[in-house]
Amino acid sequence: MHKQAVKTVVFPVAGRGTRFLPATKASPKEMLPIVDKPLIQYAVEEALAAGAQTLVFITGSSKRAIEDHFDSNPELEAVLQEQGKQDLLDTLRGILPSSATCVYIRQPAPLGLGHAVLCARPVVGNAPFMVHLADDLIDANVPCLKQMAEVYAEYGGSVLGVQTVPRGDTDKYGIVSLERQVAPRVGKMSHIVEKPKPDKAPSTLAVVGRYLLTPAVFDDLAKIGKGAGGEIQLTDGIARLMLSESVYAYEFEGKRYDCGNKLGYLQATVEYGLKHASLGKEFAVYLKEFVATL
Ligand code: UTP
Repeated sequence: MHKQAVKTVVFPVAGRGTRFLPATKASPKEMLPIVDKPLIQYAVEEALAAGAQTLVFITGSSKRAIEDHFDSNPELEAVLQEQGKQDLLDTLRGILPSSATCVYIRQPAPLGLGHAVLCARPVVGNAPFMVHLADDLIDANVPCLKQMAEVYAEYGGSVLGVQTVPRGDTDKYGIVSLERQVAPRVGKMSHIVEKPKPDKAPSTLAVVGRYLLTPAVFDDLAKIGKGAGGEIQLTDGIARLMLSESVYAYEFEGKRYDCGNKLGYLQATVEYGLKHASLGKEFAVYLKEFVATL
């Protein structure tokens, strides 16, 4: 069972993105660019690198730009062709390979991440699937979801991407505790709790926006009610899933940027700017000179 290839990735993009208002009033948080690519494109690239073929976007109001981004734009392509801008044309055509299928499902209201994931059930069916939160950008040599697919192939069950956070930040995350370590970066989970206060948190191991889940989680999500913040929490569904199946926490290799908050977004912009193929060197010179003036 656990050798089953994971071909479907769910991108919940129906949140309100209030921390970025007014930028997110009429356009999606997931379309915020890091240098020259929107967050959601980094997300899709990571999913494709992990072997995904079906991309399920859970959308809400003001999210049309995401559909447009992954759709072809014949008018724009014709203009670029006419202007001889082959590089840009190739960039546009390379956004999505023809082998990938996009499915858009509307979440009627932002009732919580757990509810958003449950909306994907009719497309995911009875197969394992991945969940990717685009505002958690992870820079890694091996894309994070690919690392997780490898853990799944080895151990089965469900796999959550985790990292250690400062104790003062536990109330921003789902926090896990481990029953035992099964490999250097892999632990079998005994417990998960959503946004515990720092003095109540069972550990400082936090779930970030990467999940590989078995379809059994859908039944659990359908049974839970509202949790922390009055939302239907994915964490609560996973806590229920753990009563019947193994769930593993995987400490991924790579650097995560929390692009759902402004500071994390700025950090990602600077660091991706410095790594950018055509811009990086010039940007580094500018940044050094600028920092010297502070
Ligand atoms: P966040 O907690 O980051 O919420 O959701 P948000 O609404 O996007 O942003 P803020 O906190 O108001 O600034 C985590 C992820 O879950 C998705 C969001 O789009 C984001 O990717 N989500 C959340 C949904 O798709 N539906 C929901 O009902 C809630």
